[in-house]
Amino acid sequence: MTLLKIARMGHPVLLQPASPVADPQAPFIRTLVEDMIETMLDAGGVGLAAPQVHQSLRLFVYHIPAARRTDAESPACPPSALINPVVEPVDDAMTDRMEGCLSIPGLRGWVPRYERVAYRGVNEHGQEIHGIASGFLANVFQHEHDHLNGILYPMRMTDLARMGFDTEMARYGEPA
Ligand code: NI
Repeated sequence: MTLLKIARMGHPVLLQPASPVADPQAPFIRTLVEDMIETMLDAGGVGLAAPQVHQSLRLFVYHIPAARRTDAESPACPPSALINPVVEPVDDAMTDRMEGCLSIPGLRGWVPRYERVAYRGVNEHGQEIHGIASGFLANVFQHEHDHLNGILYPMRMTDLARMGFDTEMARYGEPA
């Protein structure tokens, strides 16, 4: 397995809509998923989308370690892949979520997100995956799905005063 280089904000690949994966079970895709999972875990992230590793393809990996559970609605989830995902809100309910991004290191901000989303796609074994996500998992899915459409979380923010560096938030608290 290989650690992949993560594209940072300013690289054009992050602003480009990604292409569908023609064959989710292709050996290249299986290797890419394995390397993306290793890269995500090494970087301490909870999600990583293919454009973030310079592959403009519609897939992302994610996990929710027990330590990152923020509510009872988001059970711990092992590292997994979602290929050619569709992520859609199930109703209008929204909530503000504190987000960071491996492509925007050192910064965090409050982002309005849907509370619940329906998702579907396939994994690298060709199995169909679908369900309703809420809580932290719904947040991760919306953030990663946005990457596939060239959208970074600051582009979803409605108040840029609520963005800051980790170090300053540790000193002064999160901008409310
Ligand atoms: Ni991100």
